[in-house]
Amino acid sequence: MAIDDATWSGLSTPAARWTPGRRFFKPDADPGDVLVAEVAGVVAGYVKLGTPSPLASGSHVLEIQALAVAPAQQRRGVGRDLLAAAIEAATERGARRLTLRVLATNAAARRLYSSMGFEVEGVLRGEFLIDGSYVDDVLMAARVGDRPNRAL
Ligand SMILES: CC(C)(COP(=O)(O)OP(=O)(O)OC[C@H]1O[C@@H](n2cnc3c(N)ncnc32)[C@H](O)[C@@H]1OP(=O)(O)O)[C@@H](O)C(=O)NCCC(=O)NCCS
Repeated sequence: MAIDDATWSGLSTPAARWTPGRRFFKPDADPGDVLVAEVAGVVAGYVKLGTPSPLASGSHVLEIQALAVAPAQQRRGVGRDLLAAAIEAATERGARRLTLRVLATNAAARRLYSSMGFEVEGVLRGEFLIDGSYVDDVLMAARVGDRPNRAL
């Protein structure tokens, strides 16, 4: 929550800032969905996986629901390591697709995702009104898992 608070901005999320008393884990959350990066024993960042669809037909898809690195630890490869760990975890869980949404204005995150194999699959034009400007939401996805499947 401290990292979310420190990295919160209109570039990183369309959501409101954490309010006091808000819990990181909702009651039905699985802590195993959150991977944590540590530097010298201190949490430096985290990535959260989730399932975008409750349907069995969409069970091969996992989603990155959050990624953040503490400001003091940024630009040292932590974000890239977290993303690599998320791809590995998604593969271990049998996923074929890993998806995410990123604000069009978040150049740092978009560069990171592109460099890790995520491709733009769609753009929701003017999806969010942030600080008085309409901002596109960019849908990205990467193919994960090692089983061949021509349909994906
Ligand atoms: C996006 C974020 C997770 C990147 O974490 P990080 O640990 O700094 O990233 P890394 O050091 O692993 O950098 C990997 C690549 O991302 C890109 N990148 C990261 N920060 C960047 C910046 N400030 N400007 C431009 N590119 C950047 C670069 O391509 C970089 O590779 P390079 O260092 O070889 O040039 C971090 O900036 C962050 O927490 N931002 C706030 C929260 C957020 O926006 N989350 C994503 C929501 S969709």
